[in-house]
Amino acid sequence: MLPPRIAEILRTKPVATRLAAFGWIRTRRDSGAVSFLELSDGSCLANLQVVAGPGLDKFDDLRRALTTGASVRVLGTLVPSPAKGQEVELQAEEIEILGTADPETYPLQKKRHSFEFLRTIPQLRPRTNALAAVARVRSRLNCAVHRFFEERGFFQVHTPIITTSDCEGAGEMFTVTALPPSELAMADGFARDFFGRRAGLTVSGQLQAEIYAMALGRVYTFGPTFRAENSNTSRHLAEFWMVEPEMAFCDLQGDMAIAEELIRFLVDEVQQACAPEIELFARFVDAELPARLSRITGRPFARLSYTEAVEKLLASGEQFEFPVTWGMDLQSEHERYLSEKIVGGPVIVHDYPEAIKPFYMRVNNDNRTVAAMDILMPGIGELVGGSQREERYEVLAQRMAQAGLKEEDYGWYLDLRRYGSVPHAGFGLGFERLVQLVTGMPNIREAIPFPRTPGSAPC
Ligand code: 4AD
Ligand code: MG
Repeated sequence: MLPPRIAEILRTKPVATRLAAFGWIRTRRDSGAVSFLELSDGSCLANLQVVAGPGLDKFDDLRRALTTGASVRVLGTLVPSPAKGQEVELQAEEIEILGTADPETYPLQKKRHSFEFLRTIPQLRPRTNALAAVARVRSRLNCAVHRFFEERGFFQVHTPIITTSDCEGAGEMFTVTALPPSELAMADGFARDFFGRRAGLTVSGQLQAEIYAMALGRVYTFGPTFRAENSNTSRHLAEFWMVEPEMAFCDLQGDMAIAEELIRFLVDEVQQACAPEIELFARFVDAELPARLSRITGRPFARLSYTEAVEKLLASGEQFEFPVTWGMDLQSEHERYLSEKIVGGPVIVHDYPEAIKPFYMRVNNDNRTVAAMDILMPGIGELVGGSQREERYEVLAQRMAQAGLKEEDYGWYLDLRRYGSVPHAGFGLGFERLVQLVTGMPNIREAIPFPRTPGSAPC
């Protein structure tokens, strides 16, 4: 049987019960002959207070080892706490040191550390309140994503991580090879390689999700995606997770509706289930966080066409680093200005110029825009990118030819339009950007356990 976790002990408060608690010492405070330990096992934000007195076996020796970072098993009786700050405390009867932590070298002493510093110690970073709280919120969100889709009749499809198709067509794929560099450099390098052709890590599971949407109707894929783009920003990772639903018999309107519903569902889940964590983030990371989250769940998202968005940006008189013109890809300064200054909340921008979007998006009747949508969030910028897909064989074949995609590589994708094609749509939600949104973390590197960015993959 596993021992109770501290979250469980603090929730049920089995006073007068003898129990064993396991955890790491966060702090020790001595008051005369008695020591007070704050014990954490990571199950919740709160610590369990342990009272250790001179009655314990070899107390003086023991006390020297009860330092910040050390791990212990405490056998004791839970009693009401006479002091402020906690309702119950554990009166220790026996303390076993499981692992010591040398106070001279243990990096996580009581003072607050910068997130930049913590990134240099990925092996210890989750033992801080803030990063442990992010990890718990992330796990909650993960489960909630699956619940959302399960409740709405979607099937999860595990799309491949190694793929031979570049969904976004942006050429940012990491190559996967089993060849030594000398052989790869030969003229027929990739032909000699493991798959007999060039393969890479997926940038999106969309194209394969479309295959299953054309069979099961409503599916989603949720997994890691990889992009070798050299963007050293607070919103980009080289390895990130994406939630990608794909729905047959669905147009852009339906796509926007389900994306908005998903975001509200997930934010609501965090507000309900992670209140202590949100409070911590509001205190130490971003005071505006609770109000911002309430605005997300409180009212429908605004909607603007790309053309309207450009008009509003031009009319704002704001000096942007990249001047705004119709036809340009919106930069994150524009995306944030739209949601933060013009709308004051989430906004869905739809119907973008065809020239700046990938080949698979459905061409509108005006022949110059596509049925695309991005959801822009205050503080984050783009959280979701999606579209209705081009279901017309001729139109898609022409766009693929324009994009330089070969029939022999993407014929399977065209086949979905050759046999029983239907209107369909989907989107991708960046999971780390969502974690950033609900934690207020300024940098995406704090939203994932092990961030991979240009020049950095420490473990
Ligand atoms: O807009 P993107 O590139 O869309 C696609 O990949 C589509 N195939 C999705 C689909 O329709 N199924 O990426 C979707 C989202 C972005 O809105 C952003 O939130 C996130 O993925 N994203 C990143 N997150 C972290 N680091 C990066 N480098 C990211 N690139 C995209
Ligand atoms: Mg996008």
